[in-house]
Amino acid sequence: MATSDPRYVCQECGHEAHKWMGKCAGCGAWNTLVREEAPEDVEAQVPDLTSNAQNNNGTSDYGAPERLTEVTMEGDARLHTGIEELDRVMGGGIMQGSFSLIAGDPGIGKSTLMTELAGYLPASDILYVTGEESKRQVKLRAQRLGIDSENLYLLAETNVQQIADAVDEVGPDLLVVDSIQSIYRPDLSSAPGSVSQVRESTASLLKLTKEQEFSTFLVGHVTKKGTIAGPRVLEHMVDTVLYFEGDQHHAYRILRSVKNRFGAANEIGVFQMREDGLHEVPNPSELFLSERGYGVSGSTVVCSLEGTRPILVEIQALVTPTSYNTPQRTVTGFPSQRLQMLLAVLEKRSGLAFSDYDVFVNVAGGVTLDEPAVDLGVAMAAASSFRDIPADTGSVLIGEVGLGGEIRTVSQIEPRLKEAAKLGFDRAVVPENNLDRIAGDYDLDVTGVGKLKGVVDMVL
Ligand code: TYD
Ligand code: MG
Repeated sequence: MATSDPRYVCQECGHEAHKWMGKCAGCGAWNTLVREEAPEDVEAQVPDLTSNAQNNNGTSDYGAPERLTEVTMEGDARLHTGIEELDRVMGGGIMQGSFSLIAGDPGIGKSTLMTELAGYLPASDILYVTGEESKRQVKLRAQRLGIDSENLYLLAETNVQQIADAVDEVGPDLLVVDSIQSIYRPDLSSAPGSVSQVRESTASLLKLTKEQEFSTFLVGHVTKKGTIAGPRVLEHMVDTVLYFEGDQHHAYRILRSVKNRFGAANEIGVFQMREDGLHEVPNPSELFLSERGYGVSGSTVVCSLEGTRPILVEIQALVTPTSYNTPQRTVTGFPSQRLQMLLAVLEKRSGLAFSDYDVFVNVAGGVTLDEPAVDLGVAMAAASSFRDIPADTGSVLIGEVGLGGEIRTVSQIEPRLKEAAKLGFDRAVVPENNLDRIAGDYDLDVTGVGKLKGVVDMVL
């Protein structure tokens, strides 16, 4: 199988070609193919599952077939970090032997979160490999965070082999590699950060993790286009993919699981970045509504389900006469195509003509929403600003808007109502067809609606 032919690897998606092409046949990106040497020993790049059959403690995870009822769950312990927001996102703690990727923009707080882990886990040995900063820099950060743990080992290293040696020496419960883009395998000629290096280094670390049954966090930087270098390749190799999101200008940081083999995906944890590190936000709805304007037009409150967690968020819209030939549509935190669609439906089904107006929509707090259940709130915010009539401030709006102007059913209505009642709202406007799925009794009025037009008249 070994080959010395050159290969060209797309730095966006990892697609391989035998000759250079301007456009990647895998993902369609332009100018992303880079020549990389094939590894000498091709076998080595595939995690060798058979060697796991005889791992350290002689137990087998891959060997002979076993009946489901006979598979033991021993050793499937979860490490509770004490950082509630992180534990939730991980599906209730860090699974022993799990291999996770935490990705995000530079400067978002990945290293901070990973360093803080050490403060929360005084009983676990943590090996923190830093490929980007010096040990002193990490120590400075730890001091700032008030962490002075005996059990935190620092290693400034980028060579996978050296990292493996350090793992043997320390025998950690948790390994943090910050960042995977800085790590390399000396037997490959391509540069650190290239798809081959990122992929092969990850494969080696994965093998190490699974064999020795500690847990690993890889830190990965997201590139400008919003993907991790060597992205898709990495995402399917790891057990858990966490994205750390947020906007540099806001203090909020959202940790979101986009993939989790040990829990629900799309679960979020909310943090606030302060002088002395990340602080958990146990009730995000309160935070996202804290700066809400009352008595102004263009503001509504929606309820978005993030993983298993309902979150109330304010939507703001501003509709002003345009001075351009093509009116502007500007959105932050919501898909712009969806806004275009909602404006078209409002125009056709409710007679609000936006064609001479610029429309700005903003999801407060720097949150990104892409759940259809927030449609109704976004449409009503636009309608409210258009008519310059404030929307009812005591109502939460829940519902997907269809092209016919119909309000469509949403999933999981009950947790949403519960959250709205908890935060003191006195009315929830929900899809008519959802009414018979509501069994519980909530401390708020639930109004069912069937058509967009009806809601415009009701809320404004
Ligand atoms: P960092 O964790 O280094 O980001 P990443 O590893 O994702 O690149 O955090 C960087 C930013 O966070 C930096 O601009 C400083 C800020 N910060 C605080 O505001 N408070 C703190 O306690 C720490 C450690 C960092
Ligand atoms: Mg960092």
